Order: sequence, then structure tokens, then C-alpha cells
Amino acid sequence: MKTKFRTQLNTIVLLLSLLPVSGLISGCQPKDQVVQYHQSFKPGEIWVDSDSIHINAHGGGILFHDNTYYWFGEHKTEGRGGNTALVGVRCYSSTDLYNWKNEGVALSASDEPGSDIEKGSVIERPKVIYNEKTGKFVMWFHLELKGQGYSAARTGLAVSDQATGPYTFVKSLRPNQKEWPVDYPESMKSQEYKTDLKWWTPAWREAISDGLFLKRDSEEGQMSRDMTLFVDDDGKAYHIHSSEDNLTMHISELTDDYQSFTGKYVRLFPGGHNEAPALFKYDGSYYLLASGCTGWDPNDARIFKADNIWGPWESLGNPCVGEDADLTFHSQSTYILPIQGKENAYIYMGDRWTPKNPIDGRYIWLPLTFENEKPTIRWHDEWNLSIFEGR
Ligand code: GAL
Repeated sequence: MKTKFRTQLNTIVLLLSLLPVSGLISGCQPKDQVVQYHQSFKPGEIWVDSDSIHINAHGGGILFHDNTYYWFGEHKTEGRGGNTALVGVRCYSSTDLYNWKNEGVALSASDEPGSDIEKGSVIERPKVIYNEKTGKFVMWFHLELKGQGYSAARTGLAVSDQATGPYTFVKSLRPNQKEWPVDYPESMKSQEYKTDLKWWTPAWREAISDGLFLKRDSEEGQMSRDMTLFVDDDGKAYHIHSSEDNLTMHISELTDDYQSFTGKYVRLFPGGHNEAPALFKYDGSYYLLASGCTGWDPNDARIFKADNIWGPWESLGNPCVGEDADLTFHSQSTYILPIQGKENAYIYMGDRWTPKNPIDGRYIWLPLTFENEKPTIRWHDEWNLSIFEGR
């Protein structure tokens, strides 16, 4: 496959170099300069990097630092088992968002047997934020321990002095051990439940909403699966994750160094079954985009709004409009990227998963803008940043 992409790329490069003023490709590039050849986004198509290879950064997120965008994501491999971490987290850099330089493996899966991040564990949805106070780049990611399916439900931490890494693994944990959510009513703390409630019955749903799994996991710490990070204007950072068997999303505050949980958290729509969170801020309000829970299969996105990160949150429904809006255009959210220097200009970043051959997963990047005060995402076969001009 790689050979095919290379051949395609070589053809494009050759054709462009024949144009009188390509401006983008020149015959004598400095060795480490990225060959600039993409001028648009083509959601769902193969997207080659500076090595002419399909970008390998699934479930990704973006850090903007020193005028450069850094894209971190899961390095997937071919065939069965390709969704487990056999390589780790890969990093790419870009200044124009179309053309990405492969910066190598930022966090390597470990060869050491018994390590939390041993090869064959699951490392998903890595996100990196920069801490101004410590000067450290802080990566959190969803971690599942090797051989345990998705039962560990932990979050992992790795840090680096440089954006591109290498990142050093620090710890993995279940957050908010023995802590109550800040919005949890006092009267419910001592409430007890029948333990034999049948799943999905009305009585079970009510118990979930009241905190059945919250209490079950209190000793060990709350489950943390699909996750994202968000840094607010005041420098405070939050870890947002699917918890309680993916039934309830939690928003948790991180410590000033971003490397621990303070124990302050809220539950968002208990029993709402939301995952794949992506949080951003617009005009002083917070917006949280999420998906439903259907594994690798797409479902309908949903977006929530709050004026305070601790809530109350209201649902604004599905931000997608048009054909296949009910399947998020065959993708699942992973990040919302604010475009630097532009107002009301965001990119919806989603994954079109291909579990039979994970490395072939495609990226669905689409413009997200506010229409009548509602975040809106529409499909485009091909688009570029000029779509945001004149707003
Ligand atoms: C999805 C989740 C992915 C991955 C997958 C495993 O629901 O969003 O990140 O965990 O399940 O089946």
C-alpha cells in the first residue's frame, strides 16, 4: 500500500514541478523541509504526511505551541490486533494544517513485561497540553492494561520537556478515588441499591442516574475511558472522560501542574451514554461534543452547552446537518480545533474507524461554525480554510 501512495505522490510532485509557478514545490528543498503539496482537506481520503505515508494519528488531539500545530494520535498497525498499542503515540507538526511533518513516536509502548504501557496494551485518544508554570508538555491518554480487554478503564500520564517528545510514562490511575462529585446531593450519599437490578430496566436506569456505579467504583477510583483535555483561559485544565461503564461522562479538574486530579469533578447527564468527548469554548460558553456508545460504529453526535464548566449543561442536540448527519458523516468525534487568529472558526476532527485494518482509518475534518448560535457541522468533499473568511 505504501508503495502505491508513494507512486501517487511522486506523480503529483512531478506534475506540480512542471507548472510554471507552483510556489509550493521546488526542486532544491533543504533536507528537513516538508514538501508542501496539500492545499485543502479531503475528508475520508488517504492523507499523506511528509514521508508520503498515510498519517497515523487516530483518536487524536492538537496542541498549538510556538506558532506550530502538533497532532498526537494513536499509531495503529495493520490487521487483527492493530488497535492495540504496538508502537505508541505518534506526533506530527504543521503550520498550515494541511501538510504534516512526521515527528516520530512521541510515547513508545514499552518492551518491558508488566509495564502499564506494555506493547499490546491499549493506548487511545492521547491529548497533550502545555503547562506554562512547569514548562512541561503533559500527555494524558486512555489506557487499558494488556490482556484485560477494556476492563481496566484507566487514564495514563506521560510528560516531556519538548512538544514532540520523547514522553516519559509517569503513572496510570482511576481518578477521583473516594471523592464525591461536587454536584452530588448529600441525601444520596448514603442511599443503598439492590445489587441484582437487571441492566437497562427502568429501575436500573434510575439507580445508574442516582449513582449505582459511582458508588461501586468509589474505592478503586472512577472508570476513565474515552477522554479529552481542555485548558481554560485562566490556565486551569480539565480531564473529561467517559465513566461509570460509559454511561456517564465526568469532568474533572487537574492540579496546577496538570499531572494529578484535584478530586473536584461533576457528572454530566448521568446515564446519558456519551463518549468521544471534545470540549471547546466560544464567546464565554463551554461546548462539549460527544458521540453515543456503539464501539467502532458511527452514531449521532450530540453537543452540550454550559456557561460554567461545572454546569448546568444543556443539550443542543446534533450539530451535524445534511445527509448522514445521524451517523456524524460516518465518523466519531475526537477533538475540536480552534483555528488560531480566526473568530468562530473551528475544525471538527473525527475518526472513521476501520477495525479490520486499523491503520487504514480515515480522518474526517470538517468546518464547525456557529449558525444561529448553534454549533453546526456540514459535510464537504473538499474544503480549505478560506471557508472561514468574511464571517
Ligand atoms: C469506541 C471508542 C474508541 C475505542 C472503541 C473500542 O467506542 O470511542 O476510542 O475505545 O470504542 O471498541
